[in-house]
This record gives sequence, C-alpha cells and structure tokens, in this order.
Amino acid sequence: MNSSIASRFKGRDVISVLDFSKEDIEYLFKLTDHYLSNGYKEVLRGKVMAVAFFEPSTRTRLSFEAAMNRLGGSVIGFSSEEGTSVAKGEKFVDTIRMLDSYADVIVVRHRYEGSAKLAAEVAEHPVINAGDGRNEHPTQALLDLYTIYRFRGDVSSLVIGLIGDLKYARVVNSFLYILTIFKPKKVYLISHPLLRLREDVRRFIESRNVKVEEVFDINEVLSELDVLYVTRIQKERFPDPLEYEKVKNAYRVTAEITKRCKDDLIILHPLPRVDELDRSLDSTKHAVYFKQASFGVPLRAALLTLILGGVEGVYT
Ligand code: NCD
Repeated sequence: MNSSIASRFKGRDVISVLDFSKEDIEYLFKLTDHYLSNGYKEVLRGKVMAVAFFEPSTRTRLSFEAAMNRLGGSVIGFSSEEGTSVAKGEKFVDTIRMLDSYADVIVVRHRYEGSAKLAAEVAEHPVINAGDGRNEHPTQALLDLYTIYRFRGDVSSLVIGLIGDLKYARVVNSFLYILTIFKPKKVYLISHPLLRLREDVRRFIESRNVKVEEVFDINEVLSELDVLYVTRIQKERFPDPLEYEKVKNAYRVTAEITKRCKDDLIILHPLPRVDELDRSLDSTKHAVYFKQASFGVPLRAALLTLILGGVEGVYT
C-alpha cells in the first residue's frame, strides 16, 4: 500500500475524471485487481453512502450499492424524484444538504450539467458524480479504462474508435478525457455528421496531444481498431425531437464487422443498449461489454474504500 497516494483519495470529491493523475488511477486499478482476486473485506462497516439519483440508472446505482454492501457499509437514498420532497418543489441544494447530514459520501446523478459540482460545494462530505447531464460520468470512464487495461494492458499502443452519439453522450467526454491521461496511439471519432463530438471537447483533447481523426463511416477504419467503444443515441438529451428523428437509425454495429476487424478487437459499450449494438455480437469473442459492466462493482468498491479511508484494513 502506498500511503501517500491513498491519502490523496481520502475525503475527495470525484467530479471530473480529470481530477485524477495517472498515478492515482493506476493505484485505484491495483486495488480493483485486489478485490477481484481476493474478494471483499468489510472495511467500511459503520459508513453510510447516500445515492441521490434524479435520473434513471441501473448499472451505476446498483453497482455502487453492491460495492458498499460488500464492504460492510450501508446505503440510503432514492432512484427518482418521485417519492421525494423534490416532487414537492424542494431545491436540489437543500436535498443535498440533508443527505450530507445523514451520510458519509453522496453519489449524485442529475440531468443538469454542473449539478455534481454544485452538490460538492454545498456538502461537507465527499460527492461522487454519477453523471451530470451531457457533461461527464467519471466512474464510468474509470471502469471503461479498467476494462481495456484488463483485456489489452498498456493503452499507449492501441487504436481506439468511438462510434455513436458523440455529441450528447457524457460517457464519451469522460472516456476521451481519461485517454488524455493515458495517451493511446490514435483515436477515431466515428459518427453521423449531426452527432459529431462537441468542438470544445475536441479542442481540449487535441491540446493534450491525443491524435484524433473524425470519420463518418466505420468501414474506413475498422481494420485498424484495437478497441471499439459503442454508445447509445441519447434520445432524452435532444432539445428537438426532429433532430433525433434524423439520426435515430444512423448506425448499427452487427456481427458483420467481425469479418473485417482485427482478431483481438474488443468491443465496449457502457450499456444500456437499444438498437445500435446487435445481439449477434454477444456470443463473439470481441464482446466485452457485460464483463465491463461487471467491473463496476470492484472498481467502485475500490474508489469508495479509498475515499472513505478504509484501505489500511484491506491489506492487514
Ligand atoms: C450511461 C449514462 O448514464 O450516461 N449509462 C451508464 O451509466 N452505464 C450511458 C447511457 O445511458 O447511454
């Protein structure tokens, strides 16, 4: 255990994936490896985690909850605004203030960009961003990168393609930001012209010396890819339903691609999927998305352990 890195995690907020250094992330991955090979220990007994989910979620919320339960802690919270005082008109910051007085850590998801940052300003206890509008989803990016590290090791020699809704998917932003820390060989942004990556995000990743190229057709680059990251069209984030109608069938990744891809290509998807990722891929060796989702528990368990200061108990 490296106590100086561990102490950097204790009590901290997780708002953006850019809050972390490469060293921090590698340390987190080692603890995740440890949980995967040795199982969990009840190092967070007596601690309480609040989940404040103002937007739908399956994997993120339940893997946070499973992680906390495995570590001996307990969980309070809600998974929609219905049934809470938000439905009566309570303001977000008041809800966060209350949870802050009940819990040791708050995991928050909200449709508005900047909501997690605002929660962190109000709360004394650490706040973890579980998705703020179309901005970021840092723990998803950590587990995406962890999946690549498990299956392919070092990222620096890899060519990575992102396909889908690069405009509205927060997972895309956080994944690209984490790649600025780990620097792959090349990144291809594959999308319909109406779903291109936001200009500010693109400029940022280029300023961090990540080689990126935009293409509109996966077939142009498929044979070069080591990793293909597929995303769902974020229907709920389109300001105009007509805009959604234009792109809703823009792409669909099927087993057809396995005829022309690298033998060891891995396909990632944060899930949930709708029609963009065909089920015919599930039985191929390229599909790692269910494994990726399963890593959510050990990865989030490692993060909670470090933030809540339980790491000493893990190795003793
Ligand atoms: C993602 C999200 O909520 O941004 N889901 C998740 O947390 N695994 C991706 C999505 O909803 O498409």
